[in-house]
Amino acid sequence: RTRTPFIAGNWKMHKTIAEAEAFVAGLLPRVADADGVEVSLCVPFTALQAVVDSTRGSRVEVYAQNMHEAPEGAFTGEVSAAMLTELDVHGALLGHSERRQFFGENDRALQQKVPAALAAGLKPMLCVGETEEEREAGDTERKLRHQVQEGLEKVPLERLAEVTIAYEPIWAIGTGRVATPDQAQEAIAFVRALVAGFDKEASEQVRVLYGGSVKADNAAELLALPDVDGALVGGASLDPASFAAIVDAAR
Ligand code: G3H
Repeated sequence: RTRTPFIAGNWKMHKTIAEAEAFVAGLLPRVADADGVEVSLCVPFTALQAVVDSTRGSRVEVYAQNMHEAPEGAFTGEVSAAMLTELDVHGALLGHSERRQFFGENDRALQQKVPAALAAGLKPMLCVGETEEEREAGDTERKLRHQVQEGLEKVPLERLAEVTIAYEPIWAIGTGRVATPDQAQEAIAFVRALVAGFDKEASEQVRVLYGGSVKADNAAELLALPDVDGALVGGASLDPASFAAIVDAAR
């Protein structure tokens, strides 16, 4: 393998500080041997400090679930990159479909967010994916092209390989309807080809993850696909045993 497998859990709006600490206590012994797998947790803002502290020195990296593109300003309710790096947060999930769908986040904001994260020393994970309607209308590639091109447009070419992209078909998120291996491989190979449009070498280094109803019992099949470099896991990341089983499937 040329690319390090990467398993990310996205807790969404789950877990208080106490619940987060209990999760970490359950997870760390279960992933202590997962050499060669990069593991991260995307944590609510309120639990970031606790998870950074309780995972320090382990293989687990900590991501925020969103970040504002501006360094500071009159943006009530938002959090800047510097506020995250001050906590020793490693990265930020950007453009999750729930942010796009429920909070009006758009490609223009993401065009700023991805390079702003990199410039601040945060690892960006850019989420893309089509709705069921778009897939049925044959618009999957057009949607992905738009999201990937806009999201990466302002990233300096020499830093492109540091971006992780998560392909999440919206119809597969939280529905139990995981994409078939063919669907996942085809879309992710297409995403990689889009990155190659910016820089061929970076496209071979960039990690592209699959997300959408990944569970312990379907992870191995997805992770074995040639272009799938890991998984972005929602529901199954809430329990340490099921999340650890997915990390194990990536080894
Ligand atoms: O960020 C994670 C995804 O939205 C997937 O969620 O695993 O619950 O389907 P899910």
